[in-house]
Amino acid sequence: MDQVMTRKPHEMLAATLQEELEAVNTLIRTRMASEHAPRIPEVTAHLVEAGGKRLRPMLTLAAARMCGYEGDHHLKLAATVEFIHTATLLHDDVVDESAQRRGRPTANLLWDNKSSVLVGDYLFARSFQLMVETGSLRVLDILANASATIAEGEVLQMTAASNLKTDEDIYLQVVRGKTAALFSAATEVGGVIAGAPEEQVKALFAYGDALGIAFQIADDLLDYQGDSKATGKNVGDDFRERKLTLPVIKAVAQATEEERAFWMRTIEKGKQEDGDLDQALALMAKYKTLEATREDAYGWAAKARDALDALPDHEIRSMLRDLADYVVARLN
Ligand code: IPE
Ligand code: IPE
Ligand code: MG
Ligand code: MG
Repeated sequence: MDQVMTRKPHEMLAATLQEELEAVNTLIRTRMASEHAPRIPEVTAHLVEAGGKRLRPMLTLAAARMCGYEGDHHLKLAATVEFIHTATLLHDDVVDESAQRRGRPTANLLWDNKSSVLVGDYLFARSFQLMVETGSLRVLDILANASATIAEGEVLQMTAASNLKTDEDIYLQVVRGKTAALFSAATEVGGVIAGAPEEQVKALFAYGDALGIAFQIADDLLDYQGDSKATGKNVGDDFRERKLTLPVIKAVAQATEEERAFWMRTIEKGKQEDGDLDQALALMAKYKTLEATREDAYGWAAKARDALDALPDHEIRSMLRDLADYVVARLN
């Protein structure tokens, strides 16, 4: 088959934005260094060189280009967004006690929690330096708000995740915060730096928000039905971490008394035994909650696609449309 036909949408975007993406990667490498604390480049290089899809910086570059931007501040913004993302990953893996990230052992495993937390803080600070260089207060406002919202989402999840009372509304609030906030900020700042009309900036925000939600729902689904080779993460981590995500929330909502006791023991009390993950999967199969979750993800992807209608007709716009399909199609 034709090489281009087999390319995934984010690879198509990456190919289209190749030069700019390379400039962003160079910027990331330059700014992640530290002269005084060798631990910083050790940790950041481990994570940065492992790759990652660079989805969020691509969104910023794509939005800016689609809106006709011709300057170079969007490169700094794209690097800012990836720095914020990388910082949150370092912190998230400590909080989640995760062992694998981007197909490699996590920094908290290779070094320790202290290194992950402090290097994460360093990256956050570096991200702020970078965005200040654009001189746009509006961009600063958007990214500062997004950073606060991400932290808020993670904290809300920490207190809500093991509580069986957590319903789909709270789940959505968590997901909007911890994941979608950075997607929507990434697309929005691309439009803002390009000086796009307000309705286009709004559409870019709406696209990023819905895409981010679809993406996280898909990620939560993959936690139960993914292939750890493909995702670079372990299957069943969310269950072991007692994290109520959509597939489980839907099963809890329909649980019999006996099933509720199972969820109570494994998720709320955290008393897990061998075979519990299989039992959890059996209950999700009984109520077809993986299918229902997939439907929800498709619904958000459709919202993301619709939001693009307000944007200029552009080759990048159709790639963004394909990307919305892809983040959920990887579920099939
Ligand atoms: C991982 O995001 C964190 C989530 C929001 C699920 P990505 O899957 O975009 O991570 P990388 O950057 O490609 O590793
Ligand atoms: C993603 O959350 C991390 C952030 C968006 C801050 P998760 O904990 O659900 O994602 P993974 O599975 O570790 O990538
Ligand atoms: Mg995690
Ligand atoms: Mg987490």
